[in-house]
Amino acid sequence: MKIALASDHGGFALKEQIKEHLKNRGFELLDLGTNSEESVDYPLFGKACGEAIASGKAELGIICCGTGIGISIAANKVCGVRCALATNEYMAEMAKKHNDANILALGGRVLNLQEATKIVDTWLDTEFEGGRHQRRVDMLNEM
Ligand code: RB5
Repeated sequence: MKIALASDHGGFALKEQIKEHLKNRGFELLDLGTNSEESVDYPLFGKACGEAIASGKAELGIICCGTGIGISIAANKVCGVRCALATNEYMAEMAKKHNDANILALGGRVLNLQEATKIVDTWLDTEFEGGRHQRRVDMLNEM
């Protein structure tokens, strides 16, 4: 399973910490930047991750900006992306269980590492429920 990672400067530190955690869990990673705390534009990085998922270069993505809001909006502009912003474990669980979110967005200025790690692990370890939720995801895919 390959996971794409991307962030702007506001999410850079969190992206780097999550990268270490995912390496330790044995995932293959595709880091799409940014690579420092120098100011960059989050739409570029949300788009890059969205395109990596849509093209099949990675199966799942995790993206971070200051709040997680801007970069999630950008990723969701890419057809085939279902990016969910999660601020707690319940949202992360539902994002996968009901929405089959293929990208998780996090706020580097909102979450500490412990909170973010729990959110990431919950999302990765939860299965999509299918059933009536598949119909709704199909509707999203048609849009
Ligand atoms: C950058 O200062 C900040 O606006 C960005 O990281 C993000 O929070 C946008 O939604």
